[in-house]
Amino acid sequence: MKLLSLLVAVALGERTLRPRGRNWVLGVGEQGPAARPPARLPAPTLSAPAVSAFADPAGALLAGLRRLLRGDPTPRCEMSRFVPLPAPASWARSLSPEASCPRALDGEWLMVSVSGRDLSLSSLLRKPAELQPEPVLITMATAVLTVLTHTPAPRIRLGQDAVLDLSFAYAPPTPEPAASLAPGPPPFGLEWRRQHLGKGHLLLAATPGLHGQVPAAQEGAVAFATWDDEPWGPWTGNGTFWLPAVRPFQEGTYLATVHLPYLQGQVALQLTVHKPPDVSLTPAPLVWATPGEAPPELLCLVSHFYPPEGLEVEWELQGGPEDGFQKATGEKWLSALHHHSDGSVSLSAHFRAAPVTTKHHGARYACRVRHQSLPTSGRRASVTVEVAGLSGPSLEDGVGLFLSAFLLLGLIRVLSGLVTDCDPQEKVTASTPPTF
Ligand SMILES: *[C@@H]1O[C@H](CO)[C@@H](O)[C@H](O)[C@H]1NC(C)=O
Repeated sequence: MKLLSLLVAVALGERTLRPRGRNWVLGVGEQGPAARPPARLPAPTLSAPAVSAFADPAGALLAGLRRLLRGDPTPRCEMSRFVPLPAPASWARSLSPEASCPRALDGEWLMVSVSGRDLSLSSLLRKPAELQPEPVLITMATAVLTVLTHTPAPRIRLGQDAVLDLSFAYAPPTPEPAASLAPGPPPFGLEWRRQHLGKGHLLLAATPGLHGQVPAAQEGAVAFATWDDEPWGPWTGNGTFWLPAVRPFQEGTYLATVHLPYLQGQVALQLTVHKPPDVSLTPAPLVWATPGEAPPELLCLVSHFYPPEGLEVEWELQGGPEDGFQKATGEKWLSALHHHSDGSVSLSAHFRAAPVTTKHHGARYACRVRHQSLPTSGRRASVTVEVAGLSGPSLEDGVGLFLSAFLLLGLIRVLSGLVTDCDPQEKVTASTPPTF
């Protein structure tokens, strides 16, 4: 039970958490401010009602916690009180037509949020008031609504579609007599919004199964908003959100909320956009230099990348006087950023190498670009230095070669003309009628 005690440490200070069938036992031991949360992690909200065990009829909370424990040694956890209230948004009002909170929701409510690298969830737990006479040894709560995402931190390539995963599970707080209810899941509301730099933005709202006005979807957003088609609960639903051709202004925190009458479950996702740069070097693939002179200035074009921050350009020399790889010595500078209409940026890196010696013949200059959108080794482009007079034709050689080729071509043409003119066979075929 090493992993479990780990979650304990993370989630509940020094309390304990043990699975017991479909119930997990939370914190039978020490409670109150004496429980010391581990360093670095936010302290659990100790004013939350004490819960020693919970039942999860829909199974989503348990499955999520197990997955979190397997995949992530340090999930973050928060616990707080929750008060059932009608949805604040006007488009979701029709979900709670009753003037006051139904009796089925009586009791103490608690919200547990746990998030890790691959999963983030939030669950509303109810502690029925009537079933627990004081003093209590075991305090039982039941997970009523769990909302979870498997993409808590989607990283989307600029221009590609974002698919933000969302599922939810609902187990009615008190099983009402079947006869009093129509079979099928309850109506619900789904809401996706983005918070960025202090500004909130409703992107999509839906109330499947209810009539009424909902605000139009923004930015081409689409969501699946469905329950599975079980006649009787608990139910699971899908609220996966799709955003086409993502641009940098769409970065931010996405809040997905599932509204049920008087209950709201919410998870947050952090969307970031990236685009790896194209890297090219000019002049390429060869540069010429004469000993004692510098090769022409090299220009490394780093284009269409995002985000603009954190780009590094290094110049390397491979081969040359010292074998192997080394930092190239010379003058180097970067241009200003050029902004493109799709939100990406480009810049050029310039390099003026020191004068070459004959030992530089065949050496390669490379610009290596590092950026968060690239693997750690970065991306590089290189050119080869040819030192004149060592191998391959020099400029004079080149001119000489061109002239020789020109003369040779002329000679061939003259000769072939002579050959054609002298060909007697051709004249015969042209002037004599065919013979039988
Ligand atoms: C939700 O719906 C989307 C789109 O149909 C699908 O890709 C995804 O797998 C569904 N999620 C679950 C948990 O079924």
